[in-house]
Amino acid sequence: MSDPWARLRAQRDSQYSESVDMSARPAAGSQTQMCVAMEISHANNDGNVHGGTIMRLVDGAAGIAAMRHARSRVVTASMDDMSFLAPVYIGDLVTVRAMVNDAHSTSMEVGVRVDVENIATGEWRHVASAHLVFVALDADGRPSPVPPVLAETDDEARRQAQARVRREQRLLRKQALAAAARDGASR
Ligand SMILES: CC(C)(COP(=O)(O)OP(=O)(O)OC[C@H]1O[C@@H](n2cnc3c(N)ncnc32)[C@H](O)[C@@H]1OP(=O)(O)O)[C@@H](O)C(=O)NCCC(=O)NCCS
Repeated sequence: MSDPWARLRAQRDSQYSESVDMSARPAAGSQTQMCVAMEISHANNDGNVHGGTIMRLVDGAAGIAAMRHARSRVVTASMDDMSFLAPVYIGDLVTVRAMVNDAHSTSMEVGVRVDVENIATGEWRHVASAHLVFVALDADGRPSPVPPVLAETDDEARRQAQARVRREQRLLRKQALAAAARDGASR
């Protein structure tokens, strides 16, 4: 196998079990935290941290949370409700926390919260929040089943209930856009 990416993928895929245990797993088992100090390479032309830098960290932490829940390969299917609440500056310490809120057949919603600490003053700011959907994939790259999420705390139960509302809204939006596209095409 000469393609180094194919070799890496095959090596990683061989570690995933072919038969994943489908009993419900605690939401907390997917909890993921990443800390990164912001450097000049993360900045835009104004000297503030790029929104894209934060989105990359959000996607990375959320993907790890999804893999921890599914114990399989995953891909990002969508990122929605991403709100930037305050700017991030060079030197800030960014903390990204992610957890799977809910799982359906092959997809999982992951909630992410981003806070920054000003290392000089110790002041913390909540700078962004997001919800992402990941889909688990089998060895052939097809969507594969994921275990349900067990919400064990009041906060986890609230997040799971809200994730279900967002899923309904995503499906309704998809249907409404498809209907609008059909109407537009038939004019
Ligand atoms: C995400 C992906 C695997 C879905 O494949 P698909 O053949 O459309 O799968 P299906 O229609 O059978 O849907 C599978 C699941 O994905 C969910 N899904 C598909 N598209 C979605 C979207 N845009 N947003 C949220 N969920 C989505 C479906 O709701 C379904 O969930 P469920 O099984 O829990 O009900 C496929 O679109 C894909 O590979 N996209 C590219 C992903 C990628 O490369 N991401 C990185 C970008 S750099």
